[in-house]
Amino acid sequence: MAESVKVEHIPSLKQVHEMQPSEILPVIDDIIAQYKGTKGALIPVLQSAQNLLGYLPKDILVHISESLHIPYSEVAGVVTFYSFFSTVPKGRHMVRVCLGTACYVRGGKEVLEAISRDLKIKVGETTADRQFSLEIGRCFGACGLAPVVMIDEDVHQRVKPSKIHEMLEPYRDAEGDGHENH
Ligand code: FES
Repeated sequence: MAESVKVEHIPSLKQVHEMQPSEILPVIDDIIAQYKGTKGALIPVLQSAQNLLGYLPKDILVHISESLHIPYSEVAGVVTFYSFFSTVPKGRHMVRVCLGTACYVRGGKEVLEAISRDLKIKVGETTADRQFSLEIGRCFGACGLAPVVMIDEDVHQRVKPSKIHEMLEPYRDAEGDGHENH
């Protein structure tokens, strides 16, 4: 997997949600400009676009394809091949439950079930209010703190199934426009 990339002045997901479609394309163009002409530009551009938008809509893929002069079929193929790319909208917060060996034996599965029950979604799904998406991970490198859950960039350690609701609470947003985690 390519390293994540840094683009200056990149807006937050919350800011993007408030932007008009016409305002988003120039930001995508800024990302493309940073990589254009470099070998292997496609994956970092796609990663940055997904970090920006939360997912990769078809019109953005077409735009990237045209801007990088890469056939659309190739762009779509790369997006399909790598599981970390998504063409469907994700929630505002990504909840990733580690099911690596250490976390699994220390109750990761029960943690996953408790989160799934609390959010009323299965792995790979997004809540109807688009606040949370649920995924599983295979070791976040914090095995000594197992079981581990990552919410966006936050690492939650020694998570107990009975404390799931409290763990998720700070990320919940009753108005759909409150807490934003960076
Ligand atoms: S197995 Fe979960 S952090 Fe390593």
